[in-house]
Amino acid sequence: MLTELRPLRFWRHWLVCWRLGADPTERAMSLDPSPPTIGKHTCWMLRQRFNPRHRAWIIYSSDKPVGRVRLTFGDVAEVHITLLPEARGKGTGTVALRRVVRMWSPVPYMARIKRGNQPSIRAFENAGFKVESITADYVRMVHP
Ligand SMILES: CC(C)(COP(=O)(O)OP(=O)(O)OC[C@H]1O[C@@H](n2cnc3c(N)ncnc32)[C@H](O)[C@@H]1OP(=O)(O)O)[C@@H](O)C(=O)NCCC(=O)NCCS
Repeated sequence: MLTELRPLRFWRHWLVCWRLGADPTERAMSLDPSPPTIGKHTCWMLRQRFNPRHRAWIIYSSDKPVGRVRLTFGDVAEVHITLLPEARGKGTGTVALRRVVRMWSPVPYMARIKRGNQPSIRAFENAGFKVESITADYVRMVHP
């Protein structure tokens, strides 16, 4: 199964990003659990397109869009990843994260993962992340 990262394009990927953002598991695992609206989603897509502190890629598996991985740059590059339900549990998240950390970043990578989200914690560990700290809400993982 070939996994590729392709740069996020507004029109081409609007629908898959909508599906990803509206997925109930993704919402439950997100630090912002509020469900998206079409307006909010479109604004988000536009903002991230023009924000130099954001980079986003669509994860393709066997030429089909199945997920998204993105970076938000600050003191560290925060990694966010989500896959469509039918693409989970097949190793794709691990492969995508390994690709991301091989890309050039001027700062270390970091992820905040809801406590109890074991598939996500394991996928980040598989990609070389280590637990740095644990709060009441989330596990903070870093990649040197
Ligand atoms: C988290 C996510 C990106 C992981 O990607 P994935 O492709 O499903 O994960 P992988 O198949 O690479 O598996 C990673 C690890 O999790 C385990 N795993 C996968 N699905 C699992 C499940 N449903 N229950 C328990 N463990 C699971 C795998 O066995 C593997 O662990 P191992 O290395 O010990 O064998 C994906 O599941 C997802 O999008 N989930 C919903 C949204 C979400 O949680 N986003 C992350 C927010 S931080």
